[in-house]
Amino acid sequence: MLRTHTCGELRPDHIGQTVTLTGWVQRTRDAGGIFWIVLRDRYGLTQLALEEGVESEELRAKGRELGREFVISVTGKVAERYSKNDKIPTGAIEIRVEQLEVLNAAKLPPFLIEDETDGGDDLRMKYRYLDLRRNPVRRNLELRHRVAQATRRFLDGQQFIEVETPVLIKSTPEGARDFVVPSRMNPGEFYALPQSPQTFKQLLMVSGFDRYFQIVKCFRDEDLRADRQPEFTQIDCEMSFVTQEDILNTFEGLVQYLFKEVKGLEIGTLPRMTYADAMRFYGNDKPDTRFEMKFVELNDVVKGQGFPVFDAAGLVVGINAHNSAMYTRKQLDELTEFVKRPQVGATGLVYARVEPDGNVKSSVDKFYSQDELQKWKAAFNANPGDLLLILAGEPNKTRKALSELRLEMGQRMGLRDKDVFSPLWVVDFPLLEYLEEEGRYFAMHHPFTSPKPEDVALLDNPDTIGEVRANAYDMVINGVEVGGGSIRIHDRAVQARMFSLLGFSDEEAKAQFGFLLDAFEYGAPPHGGIAFGFDRLCSLFGGADSIRDFIAFPKNNSGRDVMIDSPSPISGAQLKELSIATAVEKKA
Ligand code: AMO
Repeated sequence: MLRTHTCGELRPDHIGQTVTLTGWVQRTRDAGGIFWIVLRDRYGLTQLALEEGVESEELRAKGRELGREFVISVTGKVAERYSKNDKIPTGAIEIRVEQLEVLNAAKLPPFLIEDETDGGDDLRMKYRYLDLRRNPVRRNLELRHRVAQATRRFLDGQQFIEVETPVLIKSTPEGARDFVVPSRMNPGEFYALPQSPQTFKQLLMVSGFDRYFQIVKCFRDEDLRADRQPEFTQIDCEMSFVTQEDILNTFEGLVQYLFKEVKGLEIGTLPRMTYADAMRFYGNDKPDTRFEMKFVELNDVVKGQGFPVFDAAGLVVGINAHNSAMYTRKQLDELTEFVKRPQVGATGLVYARVEPDGNVKSSVDKFYSQDELQKWKAAFNANPGDLLLILAGEPNKTRKALSELRLEMGQRMGLRDKDVFSPLWVVDFPLLEYLEEEGRYFAMHHPFTSPKPEDVALLDNPDTIGEVRANAYDMVINGVEVGGGSIRIHDRAVQARMFSLLGFSDEEAKAQFGFLLDAFEYGAPPHGGIAFGFDRLCSLFGGADSIRDFIAFPKNNSGRDVMIDSPSPISGAQLKELSIATAVEKKA
């Protein structure tokens, strides 16, 4: 090694020893008689001293020539500092420099390599390798490493085998859009990058592997958000000879272990909520249960009093924001604007305050007598000081909008503390979801998910198909879907029926998934599994909103890597070799 110690290692015990350190110049400080250099590496900071009359003039001159981020090697004696810095672990010592060598000079970085930087998002992404030098960013990746190692330890201890599945696979019509890769050797044909290793892990169960896992890259060409990247990582798992109960218990164990190892927290047993309740009480299949503020349905309470908006609505539903009756007119207008934003989609907001004397004052008082308003208060279980916020309209849209308002109020009321974790299972998802714009049913989880045996009969009737529940589950933490899975179909006939419900002809099903249908004829065991969004788990542990902060080299919101400038055009020759020249020429 070019060094004897790291920059985070030296303590008063080392005083008198001659050491060699290497690293980057964090900063220099010239106090006339004494010149200091702060040296940084991954492990910490160490101060180097060059004092007039002690260290040579030549060395001092060399020190003065150093710029920020120069890479240097220094040899010297560890000495006690005159004035100690108790904020850093090496703050009691410094190195009296005897030799100093510049290993590499550095241009002035485009932003400060400090915990608080002056660099904007775009600049830091362009120079991501410099951003990664900063403590907060490096710490995020260290956390990611710890989560990955702990995951492997836990699953290895439970007999899971890590198997790599291929990345060049086959495009499938279900789910998100695929990224595709042209095949030079098979002109006009394309591989697809996996949206998940779903079918492969099921085939591994047919192969008898019994318990599989993989920390694996997945690729989805979908619109990006703070918690979505086009390539992201899953902790992908599958087990044979299990019921839903076994899977929930096993992976509850994994998440409990990760919280303990990474955060030092005991999270206890995870509560379970049905999808139906999640939608009814939170308007969301990934409820943030750090706070209550459950939906209260008001159709029976508010209709028939002559207020046209409520009378015409399919659903009138509200939340009680405790102790928020002091909200000013301006704040309430802000909330009204908030719910009217296109992303939220409500047409307006009705509010009511419970006054100190127990009377209720609403924004629609002209339609409701105090007696009527007291019924509202009872429905909400409201007390003086409470603020009732009510939306009305088409049921699904209204629930969705109220869910956004609930989260907004939770935020405003300080109920969404990043250091509080509220994990739960959401279970009993519907098997199928009808998409109006497509005019057909889609698998809510994926087409390999099994219906609940007790609901199978409902599949026979077009009117009840939508009510069929699946053996499917999500793990939700603080309003984030961190994982999802299901018990799979392992019977060829059932799988073929599922494909047909999803609108595949027999030929299409065979062409797309023939390999799986065939495999089910060679002794497929009952099986099921789950996949966790690894980036999402890490960002939750790290208390961040965006998963980008936990990915070494992420893409921006347009799916671009601005550092390597990708995607980018390729040469005509390359296109030709891939037999896709004509398609692109046509476009040009
Ligand atoms: P699903 O599609 O629910 O299930 O994905 C599993 C988990 O992966 C995370 N995730 C993402 N994270 C970041 N960026 C994305 N674009 C993204 N998309 C999904 C989420 C999600 O819960 N094969 C099934 C799993 C199974 O059935 O076993 C699957 O992929 O946290």
